[in-house]
Amino acid sequence: MLVLGIETSCDETAAAVVDSARRVRANAVLAQHAAHRPYGGVVPEIAARNHVEHLDGTIARAMAEAGARFADLDGVAATAGPGLIGGVMVGLMTGKAVAAASGASFVAVNHLEAHALSVRLAAEVAFPFLLLLLSGGHCQILAVEGVGRYRRYGTTVDDALGEAFDKAARVLGLGYPGGPAVERLAADGDPERFPLPRPLVGRPGCDFSFSGLKTAVRRTAEALPATDAERRDRADLAASFQAAVGDVLEDRLRNAAARFRREHGAGGQIVAAGGVAANMALRARLDAAAGELGMPLAVPPPDLCTDNGAMVAWAGIERLRAGFADSLDAPARARWPLDPKAPPAAGAGVKA
Ligand code: KG4
Ligand code: ZN
Repeated sequence: MLVLGIETSCDETAAAVVDSARRVRANAVLAQHAAHRPYGGVVPEIAARNHVEHLDGTIARAMAEAGARFADLDGVAATAGPGLIGGVMVGLMTGKAVAAASGASFVAVNHLEAHALSVRLAAEVAFPFLLLLLSGGHCQILAVEGVGRYRRYGTTVDDALGEAFDKAARVLGLGYPGGPAVERLAADGDPERFPLPRPLVGRPGCDFSFSGLKTAVRRTAEALPATDAERRDRADLAASFQAAVGDVLEDRLRNAAARFRREHGAGGQIVAAGGVAANMALRARLDAAAGELGMPLAVPPPDLCTDNGAMVAWAGIERLRAGFADSLDAPARARWPLDPKAPPAAGAGVKA
């Protein structure tokens, strides 16, 4: 089975060609970072406009790299949400057009499901598994029981983890996107220099909160002296932030693993996915925690963690195999929870 995957839900214009033998034939990603950098974050209208301008060329590049023609495609999978609705519509309409013109099946992919299943493109990971979904828009722990079958154990009551990284980067004077820049700066820093809060650690449940940590990072950064030692101070703050995040993730993961074992028995793997899972320091922390829990950790390679078309194509393959093709009137959805029955997290500003 050969599937074209299209991703336009945020600020990456991406197209990939993947086959059911898990070969990524092409994975073209055009990041729009330069366009959004002056604003310190993604501007939805600019993102949508960029997708309109660049998606056709990105698809053409992926098809050429894969040595495939539209007539060779068995399926076209496009992200249909959740995300910035203007961008989602661009990718969704384009995907439908390619499917209609080529006669391929169409799959409207949930972006969160694409992150969730991305690990199975990279490695043999059986259902059910315990997933930490850590991206710019979402921060959730889920039991993944099968294609289209998710049980959400916890979510953030305020910011997503990627958002917290991006905001920490901003107060540290680093550019957008912040995650990779914070990780680089933290590598030279002392993680014990600044005592930062670990929100919700020690409390029952699997929800997250990052706003208190974010505020503490901002206050600490504002109090730093502007001296020659400033870069060292900022590196120490970045490292202290990342260490606090590691403690939070580990604590929440322990509670989630206990629940997962109660519901699914021993065995099963822990998976981390989404842009923040590209962070090597956090991967090492999660790996150690997973080892102690007796559940091996699997994380996709970094280029499958941040937004890309290959994970969308792969989710399309998994859904087609399960018999879930969509019709060409599938809607774009700004909100689209993986587990519609999940109880809301406690607190304000909750994202599904
Ligand atoms: O999954 P993703 O590419 O897009 C969304 O679906 O949101 O995640 C993007 C987020 C951004 O907030 C970015 O700063 C963060 O992932 N990120 C990282 C790293 N690489 C990307 N955060 C921490 N460390 C990284 N190396
Ligand atoms: Zn994403």
